[in-house]
Amino acid sequence: MKIVTTVCEARKYRAEVPSTCTVGLVPTMGYLHQGHLSLIQRAREECDFVVLSIFVNPTQFGENEDFERYPRDFERDAQLAEDAEGDLIFHPSVEEMYPRPLLTTVQINKITERLCGASRPGHFTGVATVVSKLFHIVTPDRAYFGLKDAQQVAVIEQMVQDLHFPVTIVPCEIVREEDGLAMSSRNVYLNAEERQQATILYQALQAVTRKGFRSADEINRFVREKINTQPLARIDYVETLAYPSLEPIEQISGERVIVAVAVRFGNTRLIDNIILQDRRIS
Ligand code: PAF
Repeated sequence: MKIVTTVCEARKYRAEVPSTCTVGLVPTMGYLHQGHLSLIQRAREECDFVVLSIFVNPTQFGENEDFERYPRDFERDAQLAEDAEGDLIFHPSVEEMYPRPLLTTVQINKITERLCGASRPGHFTGVATVVSKLFHIVTPDRAYFGLKDAQQVAVIEQMVQDLHFPVTIVPCEIVREEDGLAMSSRNVYLNAEERQQATILYQALQAVTRKGFRSADEINRFVREKINTQPLARIDYVETLAYPSLEPIEQISGERVIVAVAVRFGNTRLIDNIILQDRRIS
């Protein structure tokens, strides 16, 4: 497995891949966990050459967010990527990715107005901009994203369609801990009590599938009540929307629907969701 840190080197190795081969990209911010590894595995199964990018992207963090303290351990990540049989790691510095003040950004409207887009202004412009840079540098045939960030997947798919990127986006199932907590690099911030109470997110979402809810309001109220049983939980949002359009809905009527939550435990903001077809709710 090769490790490169410059755009020039990444382009060089990419150019050496024969044109008959399929290239898969797994964009990450590092501190790899089983969720990331499942993306690499899927890319390994479906592609001839697998590129992993590891870059904690400053432009997707708000001023008071955790860019500085975001967990980083490149040595460990490189070993895990090697074990997962990645072919190339692209690990640029901030200066390499943003060598001059950025006058060009990629902004996706409408589907970024709710959920994390509302709570984290500018976040998705940062994500879309860095992902479009990665797509231009690596020119992958396929790119793999986890559905824990389901809004991110919707945003990237929209960007790819709107801007005619020749890449197939592959959304991958959420990988969970044994007790249901969605895997996230940010889980390491949780203390023992917060970690234990955080399991309420998946319990609440799972409970929705066992009820015969017919309206978005009913679902939101039910999920809020469940989450509020945990004293350390502070809800940022609970929303039930059409997916992937992220349009508000009133009734559940055969469309794909996402129930998405963002909840703080102490200083840690966790997100989770379930995407339901109508038959799974009734
Ligand atoms: O999902 C992430 O880890 C990041 O948002 C991504 C896609 C790597 C862009 O920085």
